[in-house]
Amino acid sequence: MFQTYHTLEEATHAQPRVTALLACQNNLMPASWHMPISKSPFRYAVAVREENYTHQLLETHQSFTLNFLPFELYETVNALGKVHGDNSDKLTLSGLTTESKDAQGNVLLSASDFIYECQICDSYKNGDHTIFIADVTAIHINAVQSNEAMLFLGRGRYTTTKKSVTAHKGE
Ligand SMILES: Cc1cc2nc3c(=O)[nH]c(=O)nc-3n(C[C@H](O)[C@H](O)[C@H](O)COP(=O)(O)O)c2cc1C
Repeated sequence: MFQTYHTLEEATHAQPRVTALLACQNNLMPASWHMPISKSPFRYAVAVREENYTHQLLETHQSFTLNFLPFELYETVNALGKVHGDNSDKLTLSGLTTESKDAQGNVLLSASDFIYECQICDSYKNGDHTIFIADVTAIHINAVQSNEAMLFLGRGRYTTTKKSVTAHKGE
């Protein structure tokens, strides 16, 4: 038995999505609408609302890092989703430390399990978000892994992965 809705606002269902902090220069934007779209070359797509300061930063700088943080930092990520970088210093606000910056000046966050360095190669507006497509030019993997990915369920709810298994590889 299903209940059927026709808009996301009405449905209010849990939609588990891996959540990262998108850094353009020093500005940090929580992002959960993103996905890999090509393996070789490795390309990644992120959907960003035009009203967000990050949108204009991406248009100007054409690059970003995607920092995949452990679940335990969900309060920090959630708080960063309530403020805008054109009127606050979100890096300082976050209390997060940086490993360094990439060659384009985008921060790399030390707490990340892994980080993608991204160079935008295409973009198009679709609905109320712009899809920025990027070449992933470097993948940084932390020697210490939390093994607890941060998943955003929508409406301020977060969860993490409970178990990991390897499925049977059939002949
Ligand atoms: C967990 C979470 C995930 C989010 N995912 C996205 C996203 O994928 N794209 C987007 O445009 N905004 C997303 N947002 C909203 C932005 O992070 C929020 O509007 C932020 O304040 C924008 O910051 P900025 O104006 O400094 O760019 C998300 C917010 C949260 C809390």
